[in-house]
Amino acid sequence: MNPETNTGHIIEQKIDSLLTRMTLDEKIGQMTQVRHFDDISEEDIAGKFIGSVIHTQGPLPGNTAEEWQAKFRYLQEKALSTRLGIPLLFGVDAVHGQNTFEGATIFPHNIGLGASQNAELVEKAAAITAVESQATGFNWVFSPCIAIPYNEKWGRVYEAFSESTELTEKLTRASVQGHQGNLEDSHTVMATAKHFVGDGATDFGEEGGETSLAHEEVINRLLPPYKAAVEEGVGAVMASFNTLSGISMHAHKEMITDTLKIGMGFDGMVISDWKGYSRFGENDIINAGVDMVMAVDGDLEVFQNGLKYAVENGVVSQQRIDDAVRRILRQKFRLGLFENPLPDSTLVQKLGVSEHREIARQAVRESLVLLKNQNELLPLDATMSKIVVVGEHANSTGLQSGGWTVNWQGTHENYEGATTILEGIKNAAKGEVIYDANASEKHDDAQVAIIVIGEQPYAEFFGDIGHESNELTLTLIEEHQRYVDHYRKPGIQIVVVLISGRPMMVTDEIEKSDAFVAAWLPGSEGDGIAEVLFGAYGFKGKLPHSWPKSMDNFRGKYGPNFWDESIKPLFPFGYGLEY
Ligand code: GLC
Repeated sequence: MNPETNTGHIIEQKIDSLLTRMTLDEKIGQMTQVRHFDDISEEDIAGKFIGSVIHTQGPLPGNTAEEWQAKFRYLQEKALSTRLGIPLLFGVDAVHGQNTFEGATIFPHNIGLGASQNAELVEKAAAITAVESQATGFNWVFSPCIAIPYNEKWGRVYEAFSESTELTEKLTRASVQGHQGNLEDSHTVMATAKHFVGDGATDFGEEGGETSLAHEEVINRLLPPYKAAVEEGVGAVMASFNTLSGISMHAHKEMITDTLKIGMGFDGMVISDWKGYSRFGENDIINAGVDMVMAVDGDLEVFQNGLKYAVENGVVSQQRIDDAVRRILRQKFRLGLFENPLPDSTLVQKLGVSEHREIARQAVRESLVLLKNQNELLPLDATMSKIVVVGEHANSTGLQSGGWTVNWQGTHENYEGATTILEGIKNAAKGEVIYDANASEKHDDAQVAIIVIGEQPYAEFFGDIGHESNELTLTLIEEHQRYVDHYRKPGIQIVVVLISGRPMMVTDEIEKSDAFVAAWLPGSEGDGIAEVLFGAYGFKGKLPHSWPKSMDNFRGKYGPNFWDESIKPLFPFGYGLEY
């Protein structure tokens, strides 16, 4: 809805009227986002005129969706009790379903949706995520991540769709439309294009590192998805942790204001990332164009007092403050929050319903990429007498879902409402199915071994290869390599299902297997994998990333830069076999 239309014009008039009445404290309050627990007392939601509340790690707002809604309804009423009664935005990292709420429908992470290449499916997944986010009290999600990952060493490859700018643009449009729909509806939410810009293109794949790409490469490869998001009316853009040619993206006026806001005509709001004010230059980020600050984890006073002092001393202009508040209020009006500030309580019964899970199961099926199928072993004959299923990833919905699932760093446990890969195989097979968790048993009479191996859940820098927080490598752990060797016996054919947030160095395991499937991070509907393995559905997935052959493909700081024609991938972007 652009400001020139009739409705848009009315909204702008309402904003003008509010701005003339707001004090500086009320304006700075609107620019402030806090967590619903330890950043602030509930009384201070009103006392400090807070503009937004975020839920991430830490105490849950409640045990049931009703309790989550009740908690946020209580905080909203605090905000509505203020002099001007400006409603709160409630934000959450619902990046593959409402993944902070156990029992919600969890979709494949974006890398799997990228493999599906299916914009209609991405739009449906986003629309369901919006419903289940509203069902738990949120009207804003920090999704989609529309990075262009250059390097498998980055811990957030799986949060993005693809290395392909064109595919990312297409799926970005679908994701924004799916989440936002008609923003005023009670079952839609404001979306966030993130992280602006260059998060996935840092030197050596370092989360929050330096992006030293040439400017025209940033323009041609990284910006088009943001242009697409803006054209689809995305309500928010989140600034990125990385530097761009030495300048912090949070304080990058040329990119945030000149390029995004003026050049692309973005009239929504720019939100900082975690503690962005104190970490990336304080008032420089406001002057660069950041409109709302995640003033969390001890940043609240620093931010509110620091910005007030800056305005009173001419370091930040009143005009910049008014522009920031205008953008925030514009989204609140577009969301219809002034008329309907409270979540629709009827939506709680929509959480994890079967029709949502069916769409998620379709996404699992369409995300799978068949990399090898020697002697057309797949589809498997359901009547074969004995199958052995191997690996902890076959029997853990936590492991199959990756980071940002139940917890920030994911979970290793089974979680409510989800089905395992093993359950799906048992449902599909007619013969005997044996589960051998760690390839410690002997089943020489099995015809097929389905070996499910891959990565442990991780999020953000905890997934960076080479980061001090972990021992991760791009090769499989030795234990998983042993699983394959353990079942390499005459008469047993091997199907490997790889659960990972990125392409891995599995050239050897591909050699040793008869069939090899890249399954990414499928989310709650693990049983969808068996539907394809046994032929109820065909393979449709295509690689959203070129697949490196070995670590010597990583010649430079950009990872296996396959745009350098001299480096040949094991499998190119777009590869995928079919039945
Ligand atoms: C994190 C992430 C960002 C997320 C935000 C709120 O640091 O970088 O993607 O939306 O903080 O959790």
